[in-house]
Amino acid sequence: MMTTHIMPTYNRQPISFVKGSGSWLYTQDGTAYLDALTGIAVCGLGHCHPAITNAINEQANQLLHTSNLYQIDWQEQAADKLCQVTNMDSVFFANSGAEANECALKLARKFANDKGFSRPKVIVMENSFHGRTLLTVSATANPKAREGFYTLDDDFIRVPFGDIDAIKTVLANHDDICAIFLEPIQGEGGLNTAKNGFEYLNEVHALCDKHDILFMLDEVQTGNGRTGKYFAFLHSDVKPDVLTTAKGLGNGFPVGACLVSGRAQNLFGFGAHGSTFGGTHLASRVICAVFDELEQSNVMDNAVKQGDKIQQQIYTLFKNKSITTRGKGMMIGIVLPTDVDCSKLVDVARDEYKMLINVTGGHVIRLLPPLNLSDEDTDELINRLTKLINTVLINTVV
Ligand SMILES: Cc1ncc(COP(=O)(O)O)c(C=O)c1O
Repeated sequence: MMTTHIMPTYNRQPISFVKGSGSWLYTQDGTAYLDALTGIAVCGLGHCHPAITNAINEQANQLLHTSNLYQIDWQEQAADKLCQVTNMDSVFFANSGAEANECALKLARKFANDKGFSRPKVIVMENSFHGRTLLTVSATANPKAREGFYTLDDDFIRVPFGDIDAIKTVLANHDDICAIFLEPIQGEGGLNTAKNGFEYLNEVHALCDKHDILFMLDEVQTGNGRTGKYFAFLHSDVKPDVLTTAKGLGNGFPVGACLVSGRAQNLFGFGAHGSTFGGTHLASRVICAVFDELEQSNVMDNAVKQGDKIQQQIYTLFKNKSITTRGKGMMIGIVLPTDVDCSKLVDVARDEYKMLINVTGGHVIRLLPPLNLSDEDTDELINRLTKLINTVLINTVV
C-alpha cells in the first residue's frame, strides 16, 4: 500500500487527473472523464477557462500580494462588481466558504453585542452545511462532521428546512435570537429546496424584519451563476442582511466573500476582523474575471437551459421507476427510490461510464456540471446518466 503523509480526512477515490479542459478531466494515460461535479460546484466556467487562466497569468507576472495594509485596486473592483449585482453595500474578502461564513457568524454576534445581548443564538437548519471551522461546523447539521469537537451547540437552534412555523415557534419562545442563517438550496444536505420554493426566503426575511434580527444567506454553493442567476436569492424578492459566497467565485482559485447591507452594515470597525490573504491582487483579479464572464456571456441562461433539459429528460425516462429530479440550473439532484443500492454508484459512474458524480443524502445523485456545458456535452451527460441509472436499477432486486 502506498504510504502518505497526508492526514486521512478524505476518503479519496483511486484516480488522479493531470489535465482539465471545459467539462472534461484527463488522466495521465489520456482517458477523458465527463466532469459533472466541477470540483464540488467550483469550476462553474469549466476547467482552465481561457479568461481565468489569462487573468491569473497576467497578474502573476505583475503582482501577487501586498497585504491588506495597503490599497488594492483589484479588490475595490471585485467588491464593486459583487455589490453591483447583489445590491449589497460592502464586502469582506476571505479565502474559503467556511471563512466567509465565520465572518457572517461573527457579524451576527457583533450585532447582538451592540444590542446588549449576553449570549445570542442563531437559528440554523436541519441538513445544513456551513463549513469546518469550529463555529461553522457547529452551525452545520451533519453529526459526523461535528462528532468529537465539543461544538458550540448552545449558540444555535436548529429547525427543519422549509418549515416557517418552526421558526415562528422558536422566535415566540426565545428573546436571545440574533439571526437566521440558511442556504437557499441545501447542497451537501441533499439538494433540498423548500416546498414553496424561493417564497420561503420571502417568509423568513419577513420574520427577520419583524423581530429585528439578521437574515443571513449562505450562497457558498448556490452563488456565482450556479442556479441561473448571480445569486439564488435573486430568484426571490428579498435582499439579505448578510450574504456569503466562495466556490465558483474563483473558478478554482481559493476565494470567499461576505457581503453586508442594511442592519449588518458598519458592524465591523478597524481591527474587528481580518485575513492575511483575503482579497489579494491575484485573488481579486480572478473574481473580476469570473464576473466579467458571467456578465458578458450567456452562461447563466445556458445553466438554466441545460439544467432543465437534464432534469426533464431524466424525469421523463424514469418517472415510471419512481425516480424524481430536483434543484435549479446546474445544481441538480436525481432522487432514486430508497430501496436502490447506491453504494457503488460513484464508482460505476467513474469506472464504467467515465463520468464524475456524487451521491448525497444516501440516494440522491448530485450533479454540479459547468454552467457553460455545451449542447453536445449535455446530451453526452444525459446518455451516460441513463446508462448508469439503468445499471443500478438492474442490479437492484426489488
Ligand atoms: C453551503 C456551503 N457552505 C459552506 C461550505 C464550506 O466551504 P469551504 O469548503 O470552501 O470552506 C460549503 C462547502 O461545501 C457549502 O456547500
